Amino acid sequence: MHNLQIMGTGRWVPEQQLTNEDLSSIVDTTDEWITSRTGIRTRHISTWENTSDLASKAAQMALQQANIQMEEVDLIIVATMTPDSSMPSTACLVQKQLQAKNAVCFDVSAACSGFVYAMTIAKQFLQTGFYKTAVVIGAEVLSKVIDWQDRNTCVLFGDGAGAVVLQHSQDLGVEACYLGSDGQGDDLLECKGVALQNPLKPCTQTESLRRPSMTMKGREVFQFALQIVPACIQQLLDQSGYTIEQIDHIVLHQANIRILEGVAKKMKVPKEKFYSNMEYYGNTSAASIPIALDEMREQNLLKKGDKVILVGFGGGLTWGAILLTW
Ligand code: ACO
Repeated sequence: MHNLQIMGTGRWVPEQQLTNEDLSSIVDTTDEWITSRTGIRTRHISTWENTSDLASKAAQMALQQANIQMEEVDLIIVATMTPDSSMPSTACLVQKQLQAKNAVCFDVSAACSGFVYAMTIAKQFLQTGFYKTAVVIGAEVLSKVIDWQDRNTCVLFGDGAGAVVLQHSQDLGVEACYLGSDGQGDDLLECKGVALQNPLKPCTQTESLRRPSMTMKGREVFQFALQIVPACIQQLLDQSGYTIEQIDHIVLHQANIRILEGVAKKMKVPKEKFYSNMEYYGNTSAASIPIALDEMREQNLLKKGDKVILVGFGGGLTWGAILLTW
């Protein structure tokens, strides 16, 4: 079995920003409400780029940083809940933009856990030795599926993409992975994005006109996150034999500062161990963890040998975590 290491990271967000102040002119909300409930102050919103555009740019940055040529890439996985289309996959569109002609490409759908799922899948492909260089991307244009009249959800999300390049390595790298799903919680977070129902089934005019948009049972999702994130971290500690004190950084899916604070308190871990950037991006679903990783690398927060835990949680319900040595 091969060890795998992250060789490069990249991120790309649309230029246009939408602040809490801006939102208060669209729905009945205030900067104070959004900041105190979520920790979010602003987010990037795409005006012309689609998911594959953001994904391609993030991947390009990651490959440049890793100094790896396009021809070397033999696997591209895009985690997204907002693909450009249901066919072709966003990963194939990324392949086209990058001209990474030797890659096998597909998408993964696991909402906000998507990046952790995609990394785990890439690990299986690479460990066998059949594949050598994978680009794993989390990319979303959530603004496509936001109901801009629903203040419960429209204040939470943002657009963006993050990517990592994975290759075989002598170093420990990706040490342990853990995934879980619970379809019983399907109605907590929903986006009926594609064909809504059998076309032969009668529906009202409002139903037929309704644009697919995201709905969320906020309080239930909050409780779910507070329960599942510590359980994910504990799973990895049990698998690896490390103690929580030996972990240098914990990177949660950037949904909400109160989830982060709640987990830190519950696990009695200093808040400083948790990286947080949702203030500037909002919740970018599958993109949030790789965007955070890229920022951390850029800021020299990640030192060689550091132990890092990544935790995703979201619609499905889905969850997952990865332990890696940087
Ligand atoms: N501005 C002003 N008031 C608002 C807004 C808003 N943007 N949104 C909701 N409210 C109102 C509600 O209408 C409600 O009013 P009412 O009491 O008159 O009915 C009041 O604020 C309280 O609403 P709650 O839902 O109880 O607010 P809560 O304190 O639970 O915070 C929040 C809501 C932030 C969504 C919280 O439940 C949460 O953090 N949930 C976690 C969900 C999450 O982070 N989801 C991200 C996507 S999922 C994922 O990434 C895994």
